[in-house]
Amino acid sequence: MNGNQALKLTGIDALAFAGPAGFLDMTDLARARGVDPSKYLNGLGQRRMAIATPCEDTVTMAADAGARALEGFDIDPADIGTLIVGTETGVDHSKPVAVYVHELLGLDQHCRTFETKHACYGAMAGLTASMDWIASGRSRGRKALVIASDIARYGLNTPGEPTQGAGAVAMVVADQPRLLSIDPVRIGDYTRQVMDFWRPLYSKYAFADGHYSIQCYLDALVSARIDAVGERDDVLESLSACLYHVPFVKMAFKAHKRQLEMEFGGELSRDHTESWQLLSQSFERLVAPWLSLNADIGNIYTGSLFLTLIDLLRQSADSLAGREISLFSYGSGCGATYCIGNIVDGADRWRGALDPVAQLDARRRLSIEEYEALLADTELADRLERLEPSSYGLEGGLYYTGTRDHCRQYTRI
Ligand SMILES: CC(C)(COP(=O)(O)OP(=O)(O)OC[C@H]1O[C@@H](n2cnc3c(N)ncnc32)[C@H](O)[C@@H]1OP(=O)(O)O)[C@@H](O)C(=O)NCCC(=O)NCCS
Repeated sequence: MNGNQALKLTGIDALAFAGPAGFLDMTDLARARGVDPSKYLNGLGQRRMAIATPCEDTVTMAADAGARALEGFDIDPADIGTLIVGTETGVDHSKPVAVYVHELLGLDQHCRTFETKHACYGAMAGLTASMDWIASGRSRGRKALVIASDIARYGLNTPGEPTQGAGAVAMVVADQPRLLSIDPVRIGDYTRQVMDFWRPLYSKYAFADGHYSIQCYLDALVSARIDAVGERDDVLESLSACLYHVPFVKMAFKAHKRQLEMEFGGELSRDHTESWQLLSQSFERLVAPWLSLNADIGNIYTGSLFLTLIDLLRQSADSLAGREISLFSYGSGCGATYCIGNIVDGADRWRGALDPVAQLDARRRLSIEEYEALLADTELADRLERLEPSSYGLEGGLYYTGTRDHCRQYTRI
């Protein structure tokens, strides 16, 4: 086996999602804000969004997702040699979320552990760094655990309010992966300093130039794809799925339209029925089937691309075995990666371990009053000495229970 063949077999070996126990229905939010519900349901493509209580934070969701990935895929915590948490909503300016998670998952002391931040791009940065770590031989046969964990908050009555959400996706990166191998050659990157979305150190809420951020995302897609596969106009025909970063579901449509335009050689418009039909068919075949989890969970920032991968694998790992897919990660600010992966034969066997639908079905629908009260409580939560998870209807999990002597406390209840 030559070096390239060895590299080709690196990729995602395990995947799991964890998120908050409550959600807000988008119709309820639209009515409360005096907006036509069709704007959120059809214009943005969202049905529900996950809302975290003050006791559910980036650490608890990351630890929950990490435990599910290790247990569900029979991975010994002692085999993890690198732990990376990608997040833009950490709990401390200095101490990484990853080091809390390291302890909570009982990982080895020789496991290298750190946090990555680049808006929604942090987990893709962790994934590619882990692939390089394995390919270089430094891993010495161990695996990497990469966890995307975030709470997207834009604030009440802002344009970003309907594009909130919360959740974590954990993935184990390994040689001989059981789910998705990633081609180490057809992978392209893009970086450009732009002010499309940011969160100053003094703010719990993100600032976004929303429409500009969409433009920056699309420019990044074009450039990263050219870096990955060149100026070819026949990439899509060899793919069985196109997965995108999904801050809201409609963004995936805009992204796919742009990819198709790159191959079509011109703008696709509703006024040209034939080309629009081409776009609709391509979107329905390659993108739409894997957006249902995003529509029910909302924006989870770093994890949203990987949520589409979970959706694809839980539904179609069998029929797409051996087939190629594209993945595009975008983080505002901005950074992006476009790559080509291959669904591993036998990935279907792990459908039960990665499907989060039972978790989602158990969630509680919050009223608008509860949602607004939760946001107000969250404002204070970092400084409260004692928080009672049961007062938010939470039990049977790991929760943030207050900050004592400036130290965050986590308790399993
Ligand atoms: C996404 C975002 C910019 C939308 O803001 P907005 O100005 O309130 O919404 P818009 O007026 O653009 O409407 C959104 C969509 O709903 C459509 N829409 C509006 N009213 C509608 C209605 N009654 N029925 C159906 N669709 C409707 C609009 O036509 C638009 O669709 P289009 O983009 O395909 O044209 C805003 O939610 C935001 O800033 N989010 C955070 C940043 C973000 O997610 N960026 C993404 C890239 S990282």
